[in-house]
Amino acid sequence: MAPALRLLLAFLVIGSCIAADHVDIWPMPKSVTHGTQRLYVSKDLVMSTAGSMYSDDRAILKDAFQRTMDLLKLNHAADGTEPSSYVLKGVNVVVRSPEDELNFGVDESYNMSILTVGEPLHAQIEAQTVYGALNALQTFSQLCYFDFTSRLIELNSAPWMITDAPRFPYRGLLIDTARHYLPLTTIKGVIDAMAYSKLNVLHWHIVDEQSFPIEIPSYPRLWNGSYSYSERYTMSDAIDIVRYAEKRGVNVLAEIDVPGHALSWGVGYPSLWPSDSCKEPLDVSNNFTFTVIDGILSDFSKVFKFKLVHLGGDEVNTRCWTATPHIKEWLNDNHMNVSDAYRYFVLRTQKIAISHGYDVVNWEETFNHFGEKLDRKTVVHNWLGGDVAPKVVAAGLRCIVSNQDKWYLDHLDATWEDFYMNEPLEGIHDPEQQRLVIGGEVCMWGEQIDASDIEQTIWPRAAAAAERLWTPVEKLAEDARSATSRLSRFRCLLNQRGIAAAPLAGDGRTAPYEPGPCVRQ
Ligand SMILES: *[C@@H]1O[C@H](CO)[C@@H](O)[C@H](O)[C@H]1NC(C)=O
Ligand SMILES: *[C@@H]1O[C@H](CO)[C@@H](O)[C@H](O)[C@H]1NC(C)=O
Ligand SMILES: *[C@@H]1O[C@H](CO)[C@@H](O)[C@H](O)[C@H]1NC(C)=O
Ligand SMILES: *[C@@H]1O[C@H](CO)[C@@H](O)[C@H](O)[C@H]1NC(C)=O
Repeated sequence: MAPALRLLLAFLVIGSCIAADHVDIWPMPKSVTHGTQRLYVSKDLVMSTAGSMYSDDRAILKDAFQRTMDLLKLNHAADGTEPSSYVLKGVNVVVRSPEDELNFGVDESYNMSILTVGEPLHAQIEAQTVYGALNALQTFSQLCYFDFTSRLIELNSAPWMITDAPRFPYRGLLIDTARHYLPLTTIKGVIDAMAYSKLNVLHWHIVDEQSFPIEIPSYPRLWNGSYSYSERYTMSDAIDIVRYAEKRGVNVLAEIDVPGHALSWGVGYPSLWPSDSCKEPLDVSNNFTFTVIDGILSDFSKVFKFKLVHLGGDEVNTRCWTATPHIKEWLNDNHMNVSDAYRYFVLRTQKIAISHGYDVVNWEETFNHFGEKLDRKTVVHNWLGGDVAPKVVAAGLRCIVSNQDKWYLDHLDATWEDFYMNEPLEGIHDPEQQRLVIGGEVCMWGEQIDASDIEQTIWPRAAAAAERLWTPVEKLAEDARSATSRLSRFRCLLNQRGIAAAPLAGDGRTAPYEPGPCVRQ
């Protein structure tokens, strides 16, 4: 049957279905209808790509389907006997574009229908890009479960008709590998769960004051600032992370935070410090500082292909600039005070990043101090409070929302309900300005987390924000509590998939309070 005819048939069948109720999908799709028929998922479920511009032997799709099969089975031996009817035999994936370059703004939408008529029974996925198809497979995996009576994988409430697309193009999660080193397997586990929650940007805050774990080929002594010889990433490791993320529809936003938060740079190159006794911010008076930044961003541009790079720019305490004689002299010679020098540093660094093809993200202090001077391509990253986004978009710049009172995962007293209810468009009414809010990001700062507790600190709270960023505002729960049972099931699903998501009740990363089933914790 031609795809168009199938789709038409799907709509006719759906017309007779009951309305959406009790749909256990996280994040909630844009539109869902379903029926009441139970289907059995064939052990030999096959993927086909009839009518697609993207074939099923290309790695991104092939691997995604294999992972989906693993998620459906969850290590159970589906050893029951398949019945003769209502067996779902395949998934047909129609992708309209042969291109699979992942970048900011790529089309992530999809439609999926799972009918109860036709031979063989199959799920039909339609998407503009393979990344939309990946999202569809995530949704599909959430509809299936292992049944202990039939000992088969089942799918309830067919037929299904789902139309879905993200509300915001930027749905981020920050990890911080400078305060504590995170092993590669830990980072990959975070990326896996991001894909389950349909988050699409891993913001990698790679280096900071305390350590410089990544290899920079242009300046090979920079990672002398790592905590130890083994707490490091080679450039090949970084390439591996970017590829791993890409195959799951997740972009990697790399950050170097300058001129503050950069003390570790001077371990290998002490001339980047104002002096041996006053080590931060980076020496603004020394051209070598900018030569090194240029080298780093040049190396980054070969690995981190996301359109955006993050240049930090927050919490700059300029005391060392005035306390160091040669910098003080340079300031005088150039008729700058420390605020001018801060601006000069940020703007000069922006120019370097742009010369390597990037658009720049900077923390909001840069906007708060000299917003009108920032490059027009700047994306301002909010963190301090809730009121800067309206100012940023009114000034015509793009914005990412991460207000710390609601979206900082290291604030253990911010509950999942706080994460869910934080609205990025708060106080922004003009549709043109709303479009400049490209999305939001939850931040897992690393001072008090490492590989031993990062997963339960991130999940399930990051998933609560993920629904806020994915689902159309009119379909969000008006009161977070009415989403409790659905999020609770999703968090149990994360546990089943090997992600150490914490119970919902209590503060972030709380332990289970008393004996009981997973969904009641
Ligand atoms: C999904 O179906 C709708 C019609 O209901 C159509 O407008 C849209 O383009 C389809 N999206 C995709 C990704 O195929
Ligand atoms: C940097 O580390 C290398 C070995 O990895 C060592 O030979 C060199 O002396 C170190 N340099 C500094 C300035 O610490
Ligand atoms: C440092 O770089 C700036 C800008 O390129 C240039 O104007 C200045 O002459 C350089 N200073 C030195 C000491 O080379
Ligand atoms: C720095 O100088 C600028 C003028 O160049 C002035 O507007 C600003 O108030 C000064 N800032 C401080 C902290 O002195």
